[in-house]
Amino acid sequence: MKNLVASLLIGSLAQASWAAPASPVIDIYKSPTCGCCNKWIDHLKANGFTVTSHDTDNVAQHKYRLGVPPGYGSCHTAEVGGYVIEGHVPTREIKRLLKEKPRARGLVVPGMPIGSPGMETGDHKDPYDVFLVNRNGSTRTYAKY
Ligand code: CU
Ligand code: CU
Repeated sequence: MKNLVASLLIGSLAQASWAAPASPVIDIYKSPTCGCCNKWIDHLKANGFTVTSHDTDNVAQHKYRLGVPPGYGSCHTAEVGGYVIEGHVPTREIKRLLKEKPRARGLVVPGMPIGSPGMETGDHKDPYDVFLVNRNGSTRTYAKY
């Protein structure tokens, strides 16, 4: 009985550490000349992500491959935990996505809103939405900034 309790405990601990990896790995596809992309990468690293960056002249092919809906594109496309992350998405929402694990394609911030992570310009901030992209390509607001 004692052994059973011990193994159940170890099992749940192992599961907990699997569910919340200390340093999630994120792959990012960007143009070699994109400055704000590098600033977004800094934001990821500062918030505990391990970043693998791929320079490419055809970011669009990755948007298509990962199912970013037309009209929701931004400067870079990333992949983490089986989800697509498009644009200047705050790490707070990426972490929430990885924790909640919704049945969805991923998160998008269309365009490049001023004041989003990597797009800071003084104190100015444009309001913007982080959208969840559903499996069928439809979207809903996941967070408002
Ligand atoms: Cu950008
Ligand atoms: Cu970018």
